[in-house]
Amino acid sequence: MAETTAQRLEADRVIIFDTSLRDGEQSPGISLDQGEKLEIAEQLAKLGVDVIEAGFPIASQGDFEGVQAIARAVRGPVICGLSRTARQDVDRCWEAIQDAERTRIHVFIATSEIHMKNKLRMTPEQVRSEASSAVAHARGYTDNVEFSPEDASRSDFDFMCEVLQAAVDSGATTLNIPDTVGYAIPEEFGARIASIREKVKGDYIISAHCHNDLGLAVANSLAAIQAGARQVECTINGIGERAGNAAMEEIVMTLQTRGEFFAGPWTGIHTEELAKTSRLVSRLTGYHVQYNKAVVGRNAFAHEAGIHQHGVLSDRETYEIMDPTAVGQGESKIVLGKHSGRHAFADTLKKMGYDIHGDALNQAFTRFKELADRKVNLSEEDLEALVAEEVGDTVRYRYQLVSCDSQGGTNSTPTATIVLDLDGEKLEANAHGDGMVEAACNAIKKLTGVEGRLTDYAVTSVTGGVDALADVALRFEVDGASMPGRGLSTDVVEASARAFLNAINRIVRVKDTGQELKKANRPGSLDGV
Ligand code: KIV
Ligand code: ZN
Repeated sequence: MAETTAQRLEADRVIIFDTSLRDGEQSPGISLDQGEKLEIAEQLAKLGVDVIEAGFPIASQGDFEGVQAIARAVRGPVICGLSRTARQDVDRCWEAIQDAERTRIHVFIATSEIHMKNKLRMTPEQVRSEASSAVAHARGYTDNVEFSPEDASRSDFDFMCEVLQAAVDSGATTLNIPDTVGYAIPEEFGARIASIREKVKGDYIISAHCHNDLGLAVANSLAAIQAGARQVECTINGIGERAGNAAMEEIVMTLQTRGEFFAGPWTGIHTEELAKTSRLVSRLTGYHVQYNKAVVGRNAFAHEAGIHQHGVLSDRETYEIMDPTAVGQGESKIVLGKHSGRHAFADTLKKMGYDIHGDALNQAFTRFKELADRKVNLSEEDLEALVAEEVGDTVRYRYQLVSCDSQGGTNSTPTATIVLDLDGEKLEANAHGDGMVEAACNAIKKLTGVEGRLTDYAVTSVTGGVDALADVALRFEVDGASMPGRGLSTDVVEASARAFLNAINRIVRVKDTGQELKKANRPGSLDGV
């Protein structure tokens, strides 16, 4: 029977499987708490991803609770949990995801000789049997089961296909081919995907999961799509282990921009949400997006050379292959000033996609007034940064900054006085430092009693110009765990104090909820993932 257009369209849909909260969260220094994971997951749903890999439930209690919270709250995408082949892993994974609208269990085991010998200490026959029984066990819970032969690109092809066949015969509905160590080359990876499709019989979707050790993760994912893959596993901003995973925004925009080249494959991503999602992930993970990052970098649509500017002014397409508004990188508009009222403020935020009410709105409005008093006009970017800082988090932080006053200069010792609010009580401390920023941080340490080491520190401006808001991003290391913090102000010292307090509040919140701070090498982390 001839294929209808609708069937052809559906067959060419590329499922976007986001693993920012699992593979991305495994990046060194990233530690998201439950509220932050939920916030990212809600935004991923808004972005239109098909599957959210919410975490690895057996890895730790925190991972389990994060996955469970997402499964219970987020509607739209399939919610997936990762699992090794052990029965208790699969059981724990199911326990975490079972309340989701739609569920998936993702089972994996390594098939390369080096992993089987050195890590698993299993024979190939044991690996095949483990894969098969774990998939069958997972199928007892859900009819949506994915199987991955870890380190696929360095695995013996025939053996890997035997394991994949065993997985399909036991009920796997998606076969995901991971280039775990980022070793593959596009032509080679595409050919491997095509050969797997020929050799492994059954009804399954083939998927690619590429790491970026050689900077080829996106190219390999696209080669896989050309060879018939209809799912790609990727992360926002390409975050992930080592050099990261394939960047979702780059894959999606390549398929869209070069549709005529790929002839068919498409995604259901609402691309205009890409920039916003990128900023949210960057803020909560503390991973900066490089200025010249494709699609979502702040310079991705900036034109410096006069000849380019002239070309773009006469016709945007002279030097732009994508419309910035199509990825949510619209022109910055001046939106509000100090005379704008609460109604205009709420209304503008609503138009920008932030529907906030009650305490959150009051809190954001108070902060808006403070900033508007110091800056003539606030742009959309300023407002978005403000909302992100003030109401981005679902739980109110313990300490609030009331005031930050600092003094310093070439011939005087820098000092700072900080006033914090702790449950209505005002706490004040004064401290010295090598500079005013250090003095402010020392005063905050005195008040909160949280000791540690400031590691990274970077100041950027939200928009251009000398009246731009300063956006400070830093990391504070406590007991071997590193926590990001972000702060915003017209004044650099105050922005730094806010960022520092933000990191401390996040540490306090993790401790208050009985969770463990994620160390660089977590004791609970599991081999091979
Ligand atoms: O890179 C990898 O092999 C993985 C698997 C768990 C899919 O992340
Ligand atoms: Zn991976």
